[in-house]
Amino acid sequence: MQVLPKTLDELYAGEHIESLFPGGFINFGYYDGIDISSIDWEARIRSQENLYNQIISQIDLRADDSVLEVGIGYGGGPAWVARNNPLSKIVGIDIFEKHIKAAQRNFQHELETYPYLSYQQAVAENIPFADNTFNKIYTIEAFQHFVDQKKFIGEAFRTLKPGGKLGISSFFLNKPQSLAQAAELLPKIALVPRETEHQKDDKHESLITVGQLVEELEAADFYDICVKNIGSHVWLGYDKWVAKTLVPWNHGWLKAYEQGLLDYYIITVIKK
Ligand SMILES: C[S@@+](CC[C@H](N)C(=O)[O-])C[C@H]1O[C@@H](n2cnc3c(N)ncnc32)[C@H](O)[C@@H]1O
Repeated sequence: MQVLPKTLDELYAGEHIESLFPGGFINFGYYDGIDISSIDWEARIRSQENLYNQIISQIDLRADDSVLEVGIGYGGGPAWVARNNPLSKIVGIDIFEKHIKAAQRNFQHELETYPYLSYQQAVAENIPFADNTFNKIYTIEAFQHFVDQKKFIGEAFRTLKPGGKLGISSFFLNKPQSLAQAAELLPKIALVPRETEHQKDDKHESLITVGQLVEELEAADFYDICVKNIGSHVWLGYDKWVAKTLVPWNHGWLKAYEQGLLDYYIITVIKK
């Protein structure tokens, strides 16, 4: 029987992490244009790059933008963005020092080639940059882990320049009551921040539905809120890839989607 991860560290340090998420990325992928009946290693990496492509086109990334990515996994995302876009600055931050070290090791060539790329250990809830620093901030499949998501929204608002864009890409539960059912299919640490996993389901304070997130973004004075559902291009393709790995609990994602418990979204907003 498979041992399920209980902590964030265990979730991302499992021996099969590289087979589920190759290429320095850790995301489910976006499979439009990919033949999901025969996904190979290269196509799986491309699916993760495609997800990045979705969000950077939604936030309208431009040459010379100053950019922050929050929650970078093993660093493949910022390296790929830097490789494909001449920016003024792109900083990738992550809560784990070991993720930053791995990113610096794996993408040393990109760090040398693109001087505007850097990685730094920091948390979403305390972004170590001055007010009005970035034109664009994005986060891919990390928001669900932020222990204080409202604080992250405030930090993103503070560090964005006026008119700057924030993009959040991740899965969200369809209603708060879905958490208990989803947690029967998936490790709870993969679904909600670690502090809430021990709370009673009806007492959680995290923003686990898109509706809750939109309310908080409005309260923080962001405007032009755009919510795009992309689940039809995510879950089935990822499940086909899971079938090629030795991590069976990951089939729970497609089951949770098919049972109407959760779905995948890209949300973008602008700072006033
Ligand atoms: C699923 S991975 C996504 C990685 C990357 N964005 C990608 O799509 O390939 C989530 C990442 O968020 C990081 N993370 C979790 N909580 C965080 C926090 N509070 N602040 C910064 N990073 C965090 C984790 O360590 C992990 O590397």
